[in-house]
Amino acid sequence: MRNFVQLRPRLQAAADMIQAANHAADIGCDHGRLSVALLQQGRAQHVTASDISEPSLEKARLLAHKCGLQERMSTVVSDGISHLSIGDADAMIIAGMGGELIARILGAAPDVAHSANTIVMQPMRGVEELRRFLRENRFCITDERLVLDAGRIYQIIAVTPGEPAAVPAWFLRDEYSLGYMMFEKNDPLLLPLLEQYKQGHVKRLQQAKNKGVSPDALLDIIKRADTLINLATEMKK
Ligand SMILES: C[S@@+](CC[C@H](N)C(=O)[O-])C[C@H]1O[C@@H](n2cnc3c(N)ncnc32)[C@H](O)[C@@H]1O
Repeated sequence: MRNFVQLRPRLQAAADMIQAANHAADIGCDHGRLSVALLQQGRAQHVTASDISEPSLEKARLLAHKCGLQERMSTVVSDGISHLSIGDADAMIIAGMGGELIARILGAAPDVAHSANTIVMQPMRGVEELRRFLRENRFCITDERLVLDAGRIYQIIAVTPGEPAAVPAWFLRDEYSLGYMMFEKNDPLLLPLLEQYKQGHVKRLQQAKNKGVSPDALLDIIKRADTLINLATEMKK
């Protein structure tokens, strides 16, 4: 096919979690590459690409035209999912935003969000806030993946509406930085992610110590990270 869009690993991993959607909504589409790829890869019949920024949307429109997909891809300027009504989209995908913003977007129209069969999210940061929001707002995590892109490990989370599954007894209570599915899958990127997570907090602790303080919260996080590292190592055996 001419003008076949190749996605970078972060976006391809998110796209892989959408299958056979009738109408997918790509929220915060920016360049529109993900929207176009969902159509080209046969993952959705129709896509609505939306963004809060008109100049971003213009890029998406141009790409859709270039790829001859303007009939199956509509574009709209919108804050979050405010352009959608209940049942408009059976799949939603929100990539490249902060976890808190994703939570705010879903929380602003919970009935619309709950009417999708699948919502795939790729937060750039704020994963804990997002996971906590999902758990407290009747979104059940169905799949979680890690992906390495340009030296950084990203988390991708897919949910369906409904009560969250019970957290297994072997997993840490109230752990929102990571999901237990990554442990069950023995994801090869899990240990590197945990090490990065721990080292980030060790560095912060060192900086705090240099200023003469040693915050208990940081010590707790490092201790939890060690527990998670041990858990992931044990599950690998
Ligand atoms: C970093 S880009 C991500 C683009 C693409 N989804 C990706 O992952 O490569 C974030 C996009 O989200 C858009 N955005 C930010 N806040 C938004 C909101 N409340 N509603 C819709 N789009 C928003 C921005 O305009 C920007 O185009």
